[in-house]
Amino acid sequence: MRIRHAEANDIPAILALYNHAVRETTAAWTGREETLDDRTAWYQGRVSKALPVIVAVDDEENVAGFASYGPFRSKEGYRHTAEHTVYVDPSRHRQGIGRALMVRILEIAAAEGIHVLVGGVDGDNHASIRLHEALGFDVSGRLPQTGTKFGRWLDLVFLTKVLGPKEAPQS
Ligand SMILES: CC(C)(COP(=O)(O)OP(=O)(O)OC[C@H]1O[C@@H](n2cnc3c(N)ncnc32)[C@H](O)[C@@H]1OP(=O)(O)O)[C@@H](O)C(=O)NCCC(=O)NCCS
Repeated sequence: MRIRHAEANDIPAILALYNHAVRETTAAWTGREETLDDRTAWYQGRVSKALPVIVAVDDEENVAGFASYGPFRSKEGYRHTAEHTVYVDPSRHRQGIGRALMVRILEIAAAEGIHVLVGGVDGDNHASIRLHEALGFDVSGRLPQTGTKFGRWLDLVFLTKVLGPKEAPQS
């Protein structure tokens, strides 16, 4: 398995992974599957702002997972914080792919001067919470019943990691 930056021809595979999660899981709090145009606009929006979109690929260049980060919130005071996502093909779970994607995302974020990475996950998503904790993220907050899908309330759990010592900007 190799981790590399995504290219435009990876977008259909990224779309398929995302839409599977929409249909089957509470990883994305929506029931609306995206179109290829939606995902292409998302990819171009990220890449045009030098934000990372990375994929894990096997020897045949099949995409087994992807990860990315973007702004956490829009006001300028949040500019040193980013919110990430990571998705792995369910048929390849528990093979170290999510960890490898997250390790690379952390490396990129640190190199880009991001101070804090935030993940927002369903409180029942134990796989994601364990993965993040294994990588040094803390559970920083739990917002009970702030979402709904599949006929039940969902707790939003924020996972945060401060990437390194950094003085607060003076302005
Ligand atoms: C969360 C997710 C990305 C993990 O990917 P993965 O490739 O299966 O995870 P890895 O094999 O790299 O696991 C790394 C560590 O995470 C933890 N972990 C992963 N899956 C787990 C599970 N089902 N139960 C408990 N711990 C788990 C373990 O600590 C594991 O280390 P170990 O295998 O040495 O015990 C994957 O389950 C997924 O894509 N889920 C759907 C999308 C999603 O929820 N994304 C997160 C929201 S942004």
